[in-house]
Amino acid sequence: MSKTALVTGASRGIGRGITIALAEAGHDVVVNYARNREAAEEVQAEVTKRGQKAHLVQADIASTDDRQRLVDEAMNAFGRIDLLVNNAGVAPTQRADILEATEESFDRLISTNLKGPYFLTQLVAARMISQGNHDESKPKIVVVSSISAYAASVDRGDYCIAKAGLTMLTQLWATRLAEHGINVYELRPGIIATDMTGGVKAKYDKLIFEQDLTPIKRWGEPEDVGKAVVAIAQDLLPFSTGQVIDIDGGFHLRRL
Ligand SMILES: NC(=O)c1ccc[n+]([C@@H]2O[C@H](COP(=O)([O-])OP(=O)(O)OC[C@H]3O[C@@H](n4cnc5c(N)ncnc54)[C@H](OP(=O)(O)O)[C@@H]3O)[C@@H](O)[C@H]2O)c1
Repeated sequence: MSKTALVTGASRGIGRGITIALAEAGHDVVVNYARNREAAEEVQAEVTKRGQKAHLVQADIASTDDRQRLVDEAMNAFGRIDLLVNNAGVAPTQRADILEATEESFDRLISTNLKGPYFLTQLVAARMISQGNHDESKPKIVVVSSISAYAASVDRGDYCIAKAGLTMLTQLWATRLAEHGINVYELRPGIIATDMTGGVKAKYDKLIFEQDLTPIKRWGEPEDVGKAVVAIAQDLLPFSTGQVIDIDGGFHLRRL
């Protein structure tokens, strides 16, 4: 029987890469998206092409009602959730210096990037605990944070604070769920080529290729993150929980 994954923000970018990698590895996937139905349908076709099932659910993870509906629809579609990937996230609509950035942007970033995953994890963890935990099914939870969890960008403080919060979110849920055999992992992508970074491509091209930003001199791809999620889904890190996995071309290394 195929395992089932719920991936938030699966219609584009990193979530799309994770979803396709999971389908390739034999998972059925609940493909969550916010607005872009067409992109979600394209991802559904990719999953189906690989012989797995994809169930589409439009839901805003910042909304309490939508999160509940997302989990209910996932359970109705597949009867269980073996893997939750908290991937959906937004960047500030406008990068603004923290001396001027607005409270409105802060609230948007915190509710989508931090509160949403926190309470979605609460809902899904309860299902994972009650669905029972047999030997071959060890549920897992993945949290997609960012190098912004520790690298200060003063023109998007709200984003950094939300991502730093995901580090503690991961530690809390890893601690709480260990007794139920549920491991929790934080993935920290670096600069990944998606729509989110499309608007700042020239800036990052310069940093990567001319200014030695990362020891591995290339953009990250959604597939790089997908591969890490598959390793977790396949239980290749069974004695690690609360673990941070950097997927950043070595950005995090301090160098002299
Ligand atoms: N790209 C990077 O360099 C990078 C680096 C580190 C971390 N990250 C993190 O990785 C995650 C994915 O980023 P990305 O670059 O793939 O972004 P992206 O290309 O902008 O895609 C965002 C995805 O999230 C969905 N989404 C946005 N708001 C949502 C909401 N309120 N509820 C449900 N889904 C929502 C979007 O759905 P629609 O298609 O319906 O809009 C889309 O599928 C984010 O958490 C981001 O912070 C990205």
